[in-house]
Amino acid sequence: VRRVRTHHLLALKEEGTRWSMLTTYDQYTAAIFDEAGIEVLLIGDSAANNVLGYETTLPVTVDELLPLVRAVSGAARRSLVIADLPFGSYQRDPGQAFDTAVRFMKEGRAHGVKLEGGAAMAPTIAHLTAAGIPVMAHIGFTPQSEHALGGYRVQGRTDAGDELVAAAKALQDAGAFAIVMEMVPAPVAARATQALQIPTVGIGAGPDCDAQVLVWQDFAGLRGGKMARFVKQYADLRSTLLEAARDYRSDVVSGTFPGPEHSFEK
Ligand code: KIV
Ligand code: NA
Repeated sequence: VRRVRTHHLLALKEEGTRWSMLTTYDQYTAAIFDEAGIEVLLIGDSAANNVLGYETTLPVTVDELLPLVRAVSGAARRSLVIADLPFGSYQRDPGQAFDTAVRFMKEGRAHGVKLEGGAAMAPTIAHLTAAGIPVMAHIGFTPQSEHALGGYRVQGRTDAGDELVAAAKALQDAGAFAIVMEMVPAPVAARATQALQIPTVGIGAGPDCDAQVLVWQDFAGLRGGKMARFVKQYADLRSTLLEAARDYRSDVVSGTFPGPEHSFEK
């Protein structure tokens, strides 16, 4: 099996082939998504909400994410493994970003990192890429800035998204190998995708991006409750597990489990 590399993702854009990314935070889902051919696995700081039970991504730390990154890196044979830099671990200056990225690559065995922010992050991205660290950028709605952006809302609606497209170009020029665009009007994402040589990865950014990303607990229906408009649910794991847990409990209570086949006679 040949490892997916950043240059493969560029080549896919050039030949007009779309590719896919999923978040994952543990060895089993990583191995399954890898086997399914998902090109990029992201250990998102969304582990804050989807694994650790925090309300936002803001509280999660590098030390909390590192073991998850290591678990995914150890399980992925073919997928490119990208680690999200959490809030506060890279924004101070390029040196801080470098130190954090190195931890994710050395201790976490990630193949690259992702960080949020517009044109202001260009010097940081330039610093990391000059040091040999592949960087995925992330613009549009950036959850780490939720309190500054005034909550979950579509970005790039004003000025027809000119600022967003300009930011995307600046991040490409700084050396980013791909750019996530989150909750951006489809026409704006399409414009940015056309204006860039590097691939765009959409989430709530319409059908014209070069790639798409979803959080795995959303796409697999593990999480209950209301889904964002941009989520498509491909399975109903919550119902499957709920039923399994009820069946198990009922078997234990009734004495049906364990049976003789599960027991050691001597
Ligand atoms: O943390 C995350 O899950 C993400 C993706 C949604 C892009 O940043
Ligand atoms: Na994230």
